[in-house]
Amino acid sequence: MCGIVGYIGARRAEDVLLDGLRRLEYRGYDSAGKATVQGEAIHVVKTPGKVVHLTEALARTPAPGSVGIAHTRWATHGEPNQANAHPHLDCRGELAIVHNGIIENYDRLKRGLIERGHAFRSDTDTEVVAHLIEEYAAKLPLEEAFLAALRDVVGTFGIAVVSRREPRKLYAARRGSPLVVGVGVNGEYFLGSDPAALIPYTRDVVYLGDDEAVVLTDEGMETFSFDRTRIQKQREQINWTVDEIERGRFPHFMLKEMTEQPSVIVNSTRGRLDVDNGLAKLGGLKDVDDRLRKIERLSLVACGSAYLAAMVGEYMLEEYAEIPTETELGSEYRYRKPILDPGREAVIAVSQSGETADTLGALREAKEKGALTLGIVNAVGSTITRETDAGVYLHAGPEIAVASTKGFVGQLSVFALLTVLLGRQRRMSQATGSRIAAELAALPAKIERILAQSDRIKALAKKYANAQSMLYLGRKYNAPVALEGALKLKEIAYIHAEGYAAGEMKHGPIALLDPSFPVLAIATKDSIYEKVKSNLEEAKARRAPVIALTNEGNDELVRIADDVIFVPRTIEMLAPILNVIPLQLFAYHMAVARGYDPDKPRNLAKSVTVE
Ligand code: AGP
Ligand code: GLU
Repeated sequence: MCGIVGYIGARRAEDVLLDGLRRLEYRGYDSAGKATVQGEAIHVVKTPGKVVHLTEALARTPAPGSVGIAHTRWATHGEPNQANAHPHLDCRGELAIVHNGIIENYDRLKRGLIERGHAFRSDTDTEVVAHLIEEYAAKLPLEEAFLAALRDVVGTFGIAVVSRREPRKLYAARRGSPLVVGVGVNGEYFLGSDPAALIPYTRDVVYLGDDEAVVLTDEGMETFSFDRTRIQKQREQINWTVDEIERGRFPHFMLKEMTEQPSVIVNSTRGRLDVDNGLAKLGGLKDVDDRLRKIERLSLVACGSAYLAAMVGEYMLEEYAEIPTETELGSEYRYRKPILDPGREAVIAVSQSGETADTLGALREAKEKGALTLGIVNAVGSTITRETDAGVYLHAGPEIAVASTKGFVGQLSVFALLTVLLGRQRRMSQATGSRIAAELAALPAKIERILAQSDRIKALAKKYANAQSMLYLGRKYNAPVALEGALKLKEIAYIHAEGYAAGEMKHGPIALLDPSFPVLAIATKDSIYEKVKSNLEEAKARRAPVIALTNEGNDELVRIADDVIFVPRTIEMLAPILNVIPLQLFAYHMAVARGYDPDKPRNLAKSVTVE
């Protein structure tokens, strides 16, 4: 779930490990720890809370050695305290292990191990793996013991192990939780659950696949399947810049990422739009072109913000590509026995990280049933991209802030491209294709105009910072945007917020409204503007403070609403890309005004690789 870093080479491992953990901090975690090996000794230090606490602890007791592993934990089994922080040791303190994910059969394994005399020091599921390896290692070489233990384990894991029995070796393996090996110069190796941990040291990487293990030594690296068959792996190059990873001049990653949104549109559409001919070209879908032409139904599976982006995508695809489309929560789809029409249906997994367990679960279900599977993903090389038949990258660059902003906008941009691509394969006219393409190309400049209003929105946030609750309203394309605005406010400003399709307000939530309950209504000039305006009047009649979001030049709402945010106009299907931006800025400034760190919201993790 959270971060793993590993190192073997000639440097002080502690420095590399701490640096790597800091680069993974954005993922959200509750404790941190590390183990280094030197000769016969294994040095473990772990602390609850932030990496800075671990750094302080290490300043008091430095950890010698140039081989080591480190971890940031996001608790799933056992509360976030020092004992449960990783690494975990076996009974004899011979080996140390860090783990991301969940060992599903840990309970049964643990009972057996206790019966056979093992003593546990934590409540984690992870610790069973340390004792399992210990047990096998009593009769097998460590490498075989490691693989044997993995064969016994059910669940998801990214795992790294060091041992004082073999002090110059680092073992790692994955099933469902990402791990990447960085190949350094002079025979050193880095390990990370995310390339961000390695990027200052090397750009040469090997992504481990599911059910693959790696042994790193001073002599080289060897990859195996869990039954010890050797696997030949391809090296890849990461082309992110360090600058893209770091915060730059911004106080928070979230602000940096919102500010990058004009270039997200540029990058996600680069080389993909043919305005003159009204076409979209998506290289990643070329190989499945024939199958795509036969598609009569689409299912979109996703979670959280990606799910809301997919809902907007559903509106686009049905209206312009005329393909019946359903949007499904990954966490539901995988369990509710979906009826699929293989051959005529494509299932698209939408995910910024490409690692979300629920989305991946849904994807595997669809694959099992024979559907064409596609991905709309940001993280290159992530699990979803490797398990789908084909896909489209967002090219939005790494998203570090836990709350998704540029990822959401990148997803909407790709949905627009996909709509043009599939629409033009069907009945969409060239003129319509050209209009959408031209409007898409015009969005970056319009987004800049919205970003320029950040200070105004900040003032507005100050005014509403003490709200206990808020209601967000929008209709048609903007109904999911209202939900996304509310989700952002909940996630980072910890204000109870409901997002509603505006027409539903009178069927329930209107009962909540009073002067202490602000309503934010998306009322841009589109086919249902007049209806939203009426909903807004209904809210005002209940004396709720109203913030209206409308188009530049539409002054009539100034009379009705308490505050108005103006955004440029675009075509209805693309309006969500513009309309979501003031809502992101509003949530961000609300969080800051209330004294919270928007980048690391409590209880949340960037990439949710557990169910
Ligand atoms: C967004 O702000 C969230 N933190 C969360 O809802 C996220 O969108 C969801 O977990 C899905 O993530 P993914 O796009 O990486 O699959
Ligand atoms: N399940 C393990 C634990 O609770 C690992 C959690 C993680 O992925 O950080 O300790």
